[in-house]
Amino acid sequence: MPISQTSFPTLRRRLTRWYQAHHRNLPWRKTDDPYAIWVSETMLQQTQVSTVIDYYERFLSVFPNVVELAAADEQAVLSLWQGLGYYRRARQMHAAAKKVVDEFGGEFPRRVEEILSLPGIGRYTAGAIASFAFDTRAPILEANTLRLFSRLLLLRESPKETNSQKRLWEFAEAILPSRSGSRLLNQALMELGSLVCTPQQPKCDACPLQQLCLSYAACAQHEIPVVSSKPKVTELTHVALVLKRGNQVLIRQNAVGEWWEGLWDFPRVNLTLVAGGTGPAYELGAESQANFESVRQAMAETHGLDCIPTHYITMIKHSVTRYRISLDCLAGKVGKGFAIKNLSGNWRWVELDRDSDIPLNASAHRLRRQCFPKWYA
Ligand code: ADE
Repeated sequence: MPISQTSFPTLRRRLTRWYQAHHRNLPWRKTDDPYAIWVSETMLQQTQVSTVIDYYERFLSVFPNVVELAAADEQAVLSLWQGLGYYRRARQMHAAAKKVVDEFGGEFPRRVEEILSLPGIGRYTAGAIASFAFDTRAPILEANTLRLFSRLLLLRESPKETNSQKRLWEFAEAILPSRSGSRLLNQALMELGSLVCTPQQPKCDACPLQQLCLSYAACAQHEIPVVSSKPKVTELTHVALVLKRGNQVLIRQNAVGEWWEGLWDFPRVNLTLVAGGTGPAYELGAESQANFESVRQAMAETHGLDCIPTHYITMIKHSVTRYRISLDCLAGKVGKGFAIKNLSGNWRWVELDRDSDIPLNASAHRLRRQCFPKWYA
């Protein structure tokens, strides 16, 4: 029986039965508080479920409701986000919380259009909040359901195409029950996408919708969803310096418009070799005087920072949008001409063990862990 309007009741019945037997007990599934659901969905946007659980519980224990989040200091919000990455999500949540207080009297809005008007909330998140919190008949489409729907429908075009998006959203809405039950159905669709209709090796033999799936019938489940060509990745070489003074290290706050805006980082320079360029040469991973001299020169030019690299610590690989960064981390000390007032921007000497609520970007967070493991024992 191919998938069509007449098979939707069957789909809902099989899926609901499967969900009741197989779903994970995740903390955000025990609540119908739109604020808590919003926190979980925002965290889950770029991060795995297993990582999110602790962050979610800590965040709600510090900011249990939207009014407390709105009243918080931005640095306190960012510090609870440390390690999750994509800090723009946290900043937008903070801005949205203020809007809920200013424009909705501190009560999370119920209507999808109102939820959509909040900063950082797109169509998926608005649908998730409305359906999970209020059981509104609101469709959802995110990575898991997109894959599931593309396979059920045997969508042969890239799901990113405008026409595909239209079709997928229409399908997401059409399968919802007409009265109550969208909360359960949306959760179940996501869970099936996440646990069974997986990107690689989908577990079709365990799928309650196998008989309705057009891709399964065509033996095409491994070809769907169609992948569109990926944007080109650019490799960058960055160097960070751990400069110590007694128990303290020097950190810098990223300025407006820079990557990781508002977050703190070890002093960092970009030493990517540009073909035909004239900047200082740098060889990744090498503990050499030539490298130390390049870093010294680049730190002086970029930040006005007088420093002396002394030894190599480690390399950290991380990514920002389409850039893949190899970050060489060196230790060093400041030079005789050093004075914090000569530096441009916001700098501080801190004891990262005691001042550890300072929000660092993800790579600085990792570097701190490597440099100061005893603080994490
Ligand atoms: N991914 C995004 N939202 C989710 C949710 N509510 N449960 C599990 N995984 C998710």
